[in-house]
Amino acid sequence: MIRFEHVDKRYDGGAPAVTDLTLEIPTGSITVFVGPSGCGKTTSLRMINRMVDATTGTIEVDGRDIAGIAPHQLRRSMGYVMQAGGLMPHRTIAENIATVPRLLGTPKAQARRRADELLATVGLDADLARRYPAQLSGGQQQRVGVARALAADPPILLMDEPFSAVDPVVRAELQNELLRLQDQLSKTIVFVTHDIDEAILLGDHVAVMGNGGVLQQFCPPSELLRAPANDFVAHFIGRDRGFRALSFRPATDLRWAPPADYSDADLAAAVEVPPSASIRAALDAALTSWSGLALAVEQDGTAVGVLDAAEIGRQIGGRDQDVVA
Ligand SMILES: Nc1ncnc2c1ncn2[C@@H]1O[C@H](COP(=O)(O)OP(=O)(O)OP(=O)(O)O)[C@@H](O)[C@H]1O
Ligand SMILES: [Mg+2]
Repeated sequence: MIRFEHVDKRYDGGAPAVTDLTLEIPTGSITVFVGPSGCGKTTSLRMINRMVDATTGTIEVDGRDIAGIAPHQLRRSMGYVMQAGGLMPHRTIAENIATVPRLLGTPKAQARRRADELLATVGLDADLARRYPAQLSGGQQQRVGVARALAADPPILLMDEPFSAVDPVVRAELQNELLRLQDQLSKTIVFVTHDIDEAILLGDHVAVMGNGGVLQQFCPPSELLRAPANDFVAHFIGRDRGFRALSFRPATDLRWAPPADYSDADLAAAVEVPPSASIRAALDAALTSWSGLALAVEQDGTAVGVLDAAEIGRQIGGRDQDVVA
């Protein structure tokens, strides 16, 4: 667990960057710091590995006050992923990934094998190992940044807007990859973003920060959507919070029509979702389908129900005003 207790940060007597931050980041899950530009997200993240030291207050990692741990020692247990990859341009991809293990004394050949493994882990071809960062796409560079942070197998991963420099499609891919990786690795991940959608998708817990680094709310994303703590949070989440909240409601809450009620042509043009999908996924499916229909299909291919977007809207609107607010 990482614990902030009454932490303040002021840079050289300037305005407060972080104000009286108290929160507990649980082990083995993803905690996201989200908020507008300049609200102290990066500062908060960097205080965890002592790239920045708190002005007052304490930060503990697994019960130890980090003020008493030498920064290089502390960072052995923490991978750090910088915005836009932060790769060293004159080193190959393999060398970039192997940097920390080499510093820690891992023999070259072993570090190299580990780099190859990690390329596979983050979904990159082994052929890329000999290239230089400039010879990779933005998305590939981001993946290398994640591989490098994982190289020494640290229990804690600090990620500062790691996916902000890529287009939305690649970004969605990287987000899903991270969730898949986390399923296997169960790291303690602290993830910074200014994108509330990313925070809601990735976070087991979300910390919303406001100006001056004042924590506004800290809770699981579903709670953030259901019960924003104040106007700042409600405004930050946006008017479509009801729509976002649908990600947390199962499509099994909906009353699906029997497929037999529809023509083969309509069904063929429907977009399929598993019955276990969220209502948001079902709605997305209906809205993107040619026939305007979402089709719930079991894993063995059996179609079990059909709905169109208007009917989904009626059903959720009728039962939960919050959702269409
Ligand atoms: N090294 C520094 N020296 C002085 N002031 C700094 C320094 N780093 C950050 N600040 C100030 O501290 C405040 C918080 O900055 P920080 O980088 O933590 O914000 P952020 O939430 O990460 O913003 P962004 O979303 O733009 O990355 C800002 O007012 C910033 O100008
Ligand atoms: Mg920042």
